[in-house]
Amino acid sequence: MKIYFAPLEGITTHIFRNAYDGIYGHIDKYFAPFISPSDKCPMTPRERKDLLPENNAGIALVPQILTCKSEFFIDAAKELRAMGYNEVNLNLGCPSGTVCAKGKGAAFLPETLALQGFLDDIYSYAATCDMKISVKTRLGYFNPDEFYDLVDIFNGFPISELIVHPRIRSDFYKGEPRKEYFAYALEHSKNPLVYNGNIFAAKDYSDLNNLFATGLDPVMLGRGLISDPSLADKLKGFSVETDFAKFRKLHDTLYREYQEIMSPDINVLYKMRELWSYWQALFDGKERDIKRLLKAKKYAEYDEAVERVWEGI
Ligand SMILES: Cc1cc2nc3c(=O)[nH]c(=O)nc-3n(C[C@H](O)[C@H](O)[C@H](O)COP(=O)(O)O)c2cc1C
Repeated sequence: MKIYFAPLEGITTHIFRNAYDGIYGHIDKYFAPFISPSDKCPMTPRERKDLLPENNAGIALVPQILTCKSEFFIDAAKELRAMGYNEVNLNLGCPSGTVCAKGKGAAFLPETLALQGFLDDIYSYAATCDMKISVKTRLGYFNPDEFYDLVDIFNGFPISELIVHPRIRSDFYKGEPRKEYFAYALEHSKNPLVYNGNIFAAKDYSDLNNLFATGLDPVMLGRGLISDPSLADKLKGFSVETDFAKFRKLHDTLYREYQEIMSPDINVLYKMRELWSYWQALFDGKERDIKRLLKAKKYAEYDEAVERVWEGI
């Protein structure tokens, strides 16, 4: 089976991807958090740094573009092509208020005529240079039934992979994914499909796999892989239990690398806090120590609390 690492803005940067890939591996593709091209530039210096091939050596990386203007998409795709990428991904799912206010992400989904024109333009460009464009989409903006028309529209284009997160915009990332719509896609999509949403444990995957007669392969994992970095190993049958030695290595690598590029302490600790908000579920009985490390303002306090978390593990 193939496992794709979902893009998580602010988390799955090249620092994280390199650390994760070196320690765990077994990821078939990483999708980078979106870049948002403008009339001024296809990507910011920081976005470029994150995507530079030398910062992602040995990693199968797909950059993601968030825009509703085909000329901006094509400018960014050309730039990415020049950097050596032969696949880019279109973000049609971002639910954030600032993104949707600009008609991008999930807010582009109900604009079906404009969307069709946009796809016409970008796939015409892709055909000129043999570039693959995959799409990551929600079911719709207002209503999941928007998905029926969207599948028809998507069927008119050679989408290299259609990654479906079966929620609508107002669901954000909460509640049960609307799996019956993914079943509809399996029946009606002409494009290869990838399922994404709420796979946090091996059982979640096997339940879904049993639900859909065709099985789920590839599958895209996001929060589940952050919360339990051994999840890909578990799904691929390399391990049954969470590997805490690898986990500690991941933690220590990220903590060290963030210290190299960030200061003061508190900024690094904010980064670690975000990760611990996912990781804490792995550490039953360590709630007090985790509370302390989440409150730490200096490395010394954090280090002491982390040592206590490791005790006995
Ligand atoms: C903090 C955060 C940042 C995200 N950033 C992106 C992004 O840059 N591009 C994107 O397509 N999806 C983004 N997503 C959505 C995830 O890629 C994924 O679709 C979502 O988390 C559902 O999958 P999961 O249940 O496996 O986590 C983000 C989600 C979260 C929680």
